[in-house]
Amino acid sequence: MKAYAIGGYKEPVTLHDLPEPVAGQGEVLVAIAASSVNPLDSRLQSGAFKAILPYEMPLILGHDLAGTVVAVGPGVIQFKAGDQVFACAGNGRIGTFAERIAIAEKDLASKPIGLSMLEAAALPLVSLTAWQALVERAQLRSGQRVLIHAGSGGVGTVAIQLAKHLGAQVATTVGTANVGLAKELGADVVMDYRKEAFEERLNGYDVVLNTLGPDVLEKSLKVLKPGGKLISISGPPDPAFARLIGANWIVRQVMRLGSLKVRRSARRRGIDYSFLFMRPDGAQLSEIAKLVDAGTIRPVIDQEFDFDATPDALERSASGRARGKVVIRIAADGAVGRPDV
Ligand SMILES: NC(=O)c1ccc[n+]([C@@H]2O[C@H](COP(=O)([O-])OP(=O)(O)OC[C@H]3O[C@@H](n4cnc5c(N)ncnc54)[C@H](OP(=O)(O)O)[C@@H]3O)[C@@H](O)[C@H]2O)c1
Repeated sequence: MKAYAIGGYKEPVTLHDLPEPVAGQGEVLVAIAASSVNPLDSRLQSGAFKAILPYEMPLILGHDLAGTVVAVGPGVIQFKAGDQVFACAGNGRIGTFAERIAIAEKDLASKPIGLSMLEAAALPLVSLTAWQALVERAQLRSGQRVLIHAGSGGVGTVAIQLAKHLGAQVATTVGTANVGLAKELGADVVMDYRKEAFEERLNGYDVVLNTLGPDVLEKSLKVLKPGGKLISISGPPDPAFARLIGANWIVRQVMRLGSLKVRRSARRRGIDYSFLFMRPDGAQLSEIAKLVDAGTIRPVIDQEFDFDATPDALERSASGRARGKVVIRIAADGAVGRPDV
């Protein structure tokens, strides 16, 4: 099958002809109709995660998919050939910039009925990230106040909508061109990061979802009240995360020291700092699909690319300027031909 992969870290993403995947125990073979790009894809390509996510080469990039079930492996009960699904592929088992993938049944969910394949492929990784940050980790409740950084990004566009659904008051930081988008998505306080210092305007917040660098992370502490939660998905990883992934001693020390400054500053203010690395979860994705079909959450698409322009799609995402998600059309009609299995 055709797939976009790297032959080694820091190497360009090129088209490869690779062996057909086969659905093993508990796995589902999906013909991928569409995918979307996440900043994680280019960071994997650069080798930034090789200490915690060891992959064999060639490595097919891509986490998100929407597509049609072609075959199921032994033990699969929830899905059958012909079902339309979407998913974020598990760390260690990624590879959705490809015609087909064998993916764990537990990572899959039925595609929202009201979305095209391209729209559905825009959601899995970012919506699971938003869910795990706001619902699971922050336990955000009605009436609480949350600051979501980069409200125009892949994660931010979904996080704003989810936080509003949970009844929170939402502030967000965006660039000038995206102020209108953030308001349309429901944000109550929209700050243009090029014109306004968020840390001077906001205070007494319950939760901050940080998607940006160390400078923004440090300033975010100032807007939180004692007992508040600073959840960062852009680092630095903390000792709890090192334990969660069973990191070796060296990696544990790197994470402990790398997060020392923010953890100390947070502790002084009575704030809980934590790093979150999302995980695939088909059950959570099914809950998200219900919100999509109810009209509560919609995907925001920055740009569409054809499969043969996958390297351009990665470049667009890596620019850091995407407004919502960069999506890739892998099959022309969303129902690719059945492979020989
Ligand atoms: N740990 C995890 O599990 C996890 C999961 C998902 C993502 N992430 C990480 O989280 C970060 C965000 O991911 P994403 O997919 O949302 O990224 P993205 O879609 O690439 O974000 C791009 C957006 O960020 C905005 N932006 C850039 N600088 C900004 C600033 N200083 N203030 C406010 N907005 C700014 C840009 O708006 P302008 O063009 O107007 O600047 C653009 O709309 C990335 O670092 C990613 O690797 C981590």
